[in-house]
Amino acid sequence: MTPTTTILQLNGKALSVTASPDTPLLWVIRDMAGLTGTKFGCGIGLCGACTVHLGRRAVRSCITPISAAAGAPVTTIECLSTDGQHPLQKAWVQTQAPQCGYCQSGQIMQAAALIRRFPNPTDDDIDSVMNGNLCRCMAYVRIRQAIKIAAAEVRGVASHA
Ligand code: FES
Ligand code: FES
Repeated sequence: MTPTTTILQLNGKALSVTASPDTPLLWVIRDMAGLTGTKFGCGIGLCGACTVHLGRRAVRSCITPISAAAGAPVTTIECLSTDGQHPLQKAWVQTQAPQCGYCQSGQIMQAAALIRRFPNPTDDDIDSVMNGNLCRCMAYVRIRQAIKIAAAEVRGVASHA
């Protein structure tokens, strides 16, 4: 496609991108904006490593064209919180959820959308929302525990996870 200029709202700042409208959002985030917390895994929407927020939705940035991303703010792991102290980030540390870590920014961004939708998530809620975020290190048990801890903090109650 012919390059055009697209204005993205990336982590609260306007970013002007001149590129083909079908350029994947992930390439802009990593290669143009230099934000490498968002990972490339499969490139076809099947692993979740590239998950970011478009508005309040978790989306796969590898299959989201920039033409579709222009209408809503894009948030990456670098701006989930200003200080790395989002309840999910703290719970991830508390549970030592990551192993190699490669999938984890995508897991956290998906989980952030999850706890907005399910403030007190059951195992089934977690599985239904997180099942597209793959972890080859099989950290699923700790991820589930961390989500419950973080959701409890957001609700303002003690966690029994
Ligand atoms: S890299 Fe986007 S879903 Fe796998
Ligand atoms: S922690 Fe290694 S892929 Fe998930």
